[in-house]
Amino acid sequence: MGGRIVGLGSHLPRFLLTNADLERMVETSDEWIVQRTGIRERHHLQDGEDPAVMAIEAGRAALARADTSPGDVDLLLVATTFPDMICPGSAPFIAGGLGLGDAPFLDLKAGCSGFVYGLALCDALLRCGHPHRILLIGTEALSRVIDWNDRKTCVLFGDGAGAALLESGDEGEGILGSALFGDADKAHLLRIPAGGTRTPTTEDTVAANLHYLKMEGAGVYRSAVAMMESSSRAALTVAGISLGDVDWVVPHQANIRIIESLIRRLGVRRERVVINLDRVANTSAASIPIALDEATRDGRILPGHIVLMTAFGAGATYGAVVMRMDA
Ligand code: ACO
Repeated sequence: MGGRIVGLGSHLPRFLLTNADLERMVETSDEWIVQRTGIRERHHLQDGEDPAVMAIEAGRAALARADTSPGDVDLLLVATTFPDMICPGSAPFIAGGLGLGDAPFLDLKAGCSGFVYGLALCDALLRCGHPHRILLIGTEALSRVIDWNDRKTCVLFGDGAGAALLESGDEGEGILGSALFGDADKAHLLRIPAGGTRTPTTEDTVAANLHYLKMEGAGVYRSAVAMMESSSRAALTVAGISLGDVDWVVPHQANIRIIESLIRRLGVRRERVVINLDRVANTSAASIPIALDEATRDGRILPGHIVLMTAFGAGATYGAVVMRMDA
């Protein structure tokens, strides 16, 4: 049967960067950032800190919550847009740090939709009967790819990791429905132009700052709401339930204005929406599992609650998952 979450965990780096700190670094203001994005502070890795540690800590917490040892994990799936290394990615460093033995591992690159994509893939794999237990981690170290000379992007992002341990459940448990989509015509909206095989790193690409994240913010904004709304409705149809049955919406935490437009269009009350971007900013593929873990630990999301998760991201990818929680 399909996937259910039996343990959640998350980790944020200790260092906190506030909007007031940013005011001293770039030409911006707390007022501009809060009004345009809803973000007040974000956690960033500091120089020398290993990005894999965030995912390892989140993974350990999820395993502990499920009372499961690392040796019982059959597959590690790491959703990350900005891997520790282009080769071999992030998963090997995280698998090694968690002590997963010879379990297979791989990176999943689906932008900010990575965790939602990952949940849908885990569901399909678990329905096949093997693997039995999958550790899905969304982890991002965006502070390492930010261009501090670009005030339009450098204020938006935070670092962090969130993890979910999934096992197969009975019908009516766990993932009830999912819907994934892509729109390759929007691949230009969010990208790091150099450093891959299309444009390898050279002195010229570094001098032109092409190794940093570039974003066409207005284009992302225009697409995001429609993508999250349509994929949410599609996932609900697959699940065979209506919005009125949903206890909590956990949207990708990119921008408060995007979230507010989404819930207006869906007709969902704000009290039923998990929002933490004021404290953590946009952590890309880590944003949904961090929010899910926080809302589960503080008692908002309870066993039996139906949760709708939806995201959009680089690619462009988008999608939604409807899930009955039991973690
Ligand atoms: N501080 C102060 N002023 C700024 C800043 C800043 N940090 N950034 C831009 N401005 C200025 C601009 O220079 C511009 O000034 P001008 O009118 O004199 O030229 C003005 O503010 C408006 O700039 P816009 O880019 O038009 O601002 P906009 O209202 O579109 O907001 C934002 C920008 C917040 C990035 C918005 O486009 C947005 O939220 N887009 C979606 C971004 C997003 O969700 N990104 C996540 C993508 S990654 C992912 O999650 C998939």
